Amino acid sequence: KRTAILISGRGSNMTALIAAAMNPDYPAEIALVLSNRPDAKGLEKAAEVGIATAVIDHREYPGDRQAFEKAIDTVLKEHKIELVALAGFMRILTPLLVNAWSGRMINIHPALLPCFRGLATHERALEEGVKLHGATVHYVSAEMDDGPIIIQGAVPVLDSDTPETLAARVLEVEHKIYPKALELVARGKTKVTGARVLSGGDEP
Ligand code: GRF
Repeated sequence: KRTAILISGRGSNMTALIAAAMNPDYPAEIALVLSNRPDAKGLEKAAEVGIATAVIDHREYPGDRQAFEKAIDTVLKEHKIELVALAGFMRILTPLLVNAWSGRMINIHPALLPCFRGLATHERALEEGVKLHGATVHYVSAEMDDGPIIIQGAVPVLDSDTPETLAARVLEVEHKIYPKALELVARGKTKVTGARVLSGGDEP
């Protein structure tokens, strides 16, 4: 499946997906990396390995999210994209794009949803004193950090953790679960029933 990755920053999850897709048996091909920020570090990394890149700078669409999203949609169509993976894409998307890509757009969030939606998840996990934290790959729905969950990965929270050390532990898990989730979706193994995603096997 021709897959686009949408990023805003360093793109370490993007790199993990690209690495997985290098395997000839992997069912998704990373055909495009698109950023809303021209200076996103991940763009350079993608270009280095020969992947097409595009920039749709949200600042060129002041106050007009619909035009911004229409521009994204147009580029995705130009590249004949079939699946979209958000990986540190820091713009909230409206139903215009979300509905157009319903069932074909996934996201990774650095927390065990439905806990800790939004930003600063690691700080809040420490403040709340949770003993388990982690990351979630989910289908994108119109609500932020919501939508049927495909895979989660959990890590322990240690007494010695700072937001930084916890973020690093969660990031390792992100890099494992995101390629697995994209693989399941690209193979058509995921079945959404209500809020649940059944993926045809009980192996994590
Ligand atoms: C990750 O923690 C991801 O879960 C969150 O933003 C961060 C992006 O990191 N949505 P990277 O750009 O993939 O390195």
